[in-house]
Amino acid sequence: MKIFVTGATGVIGRRLVPLLVRAGHKVTAHVRTPAKQQAIRRSGALPVDVDLFDASAVRHALEGHDAVANLATHMPASAGRMLLPSAWRENTRIRKQVSRLLAEAASACGAVTFIQESFAPIYPDCGDAWVDETVPVQPASYNASVVDAENSAHDFSRRGGRGVVLRFAAFYGPDARHLHDLIKLVRKGFAPLLGTPDAFVSSISHDDAANAVIAALDCPAGIYNVGDDEPVTHREYVNSLADALGVAHPRLPPAWFTALTGPVGKTVARSLRISNSKLKQSALWRPRYSSVRQGWQDTVAEMLNAGRAADETSRAA
Ligand SMILES: NC(=O)c1ccc[n+]([C@@H]2O[C@H](COP(=O)([O-])OP(=O)(O)OC[C@H]3O[C@@H](n4cnc5c(N)ncnc54)[C@H](OP(=O)(O)O)[C@@H]3O)[C@@H](O)[C@H]2O)c1
Repeated sequence: MKIFVTGATGVIGRRLVPLLVRAGHKVTAHVRTPAKQQAIRRSGALPVDVDLFDASAVRHALEGHDAVANLATHMPASAGRMLLPSAWRENTRIRKQVSRLLAEAASACGAVTFIQESFAPIYPDCGDAWVDETVPVQPASYNASVVDAENSAHDFSRRGGRGVVLRFAAFYGPDARHLHDLIKLVRKGFAPLLGTPDAFVSSISHDDAANAVIAALDCPAGIYNVGDDEPVTHREYVNSLADALGVAHPRLPPAWFTALTGPVGKTVARSLRISNSKLKQSALWRPRYSSVRQGWQDTVAEMLNAGRAADETSRAA
């Protein structure tokens, strides 16, 4: 297939592009900066830079493609900034406008598949009940645009294509900014995970998420949760991270603190035990890490190795 990938330089995109190339697909990758274009070229894809907010430029860029994977997002730069609803403005613009323009252009060009990234924590707090795709979503105001992005994929299906929505659980991986921030705090004995210690958090490694996008190329139209097999409680999440780091189990903030943190904090605090059954029934996809408990071990080892390699390079220089 000829596949157009946006967000190709992001944490999922930069894993997805080489996987697609290796699987024999022709990949056009949306890349905004020359330095990142070189890396994309090295991975065997063709980089293009078009303004994704420009309908005719998008239409032109998508000509001849069979599938589009829209992974463009723009998260606030730090965990602290995430608490400010205004820091989500660019992300809202992307999810409302870019998703629609891409889906419309994909239909106009005769593409058969449109894959849209989405965010599982738009489900309401469901305590310890499993959450499947039939649970009605309740996004907070700051991330209501996730629903607009999903609707672009559904509209693509209504026009005769196959629109697939991937509701990703919380990402983790050695290059996740928020994980670096969390690790610094866990080493100091504190983990700012909002909510109660027994609330569930659902995660997915970056690599398993990228493989889910590959699986989505063959899934029937619809919505799919992408999380690992065994969501854990907040307490297990931070304790197993501390174990992987070889440090003491950290303190969590008191549950009442969440009330002071506004809509973003309250969203993060939701207890979400996301079920991945539908994707596993629809595709051969299986997460490599059944739980973050195993995922932390490799992720932390990779981070430590990268840190040691960087130290050696700077000593040699
Ligand atoms: N489910 C989840 O837990 C979840 C979901 C999303 C993100 N995150 C986390 O949040 C952190 C940062 O995420 P992120 O979404 O900011 O970055 P990201 O995942 O690294 O990538 C975002 C992608 O969108 C592109 N992009 C951003 N603004 C754009 C625009 N205006 N027009 C076109 N393309 C644009 C970026 O391109 P450039 O490289 O040119 O900037 C990049 O390719 C990551 O650590 C990630 O793990 C978590």
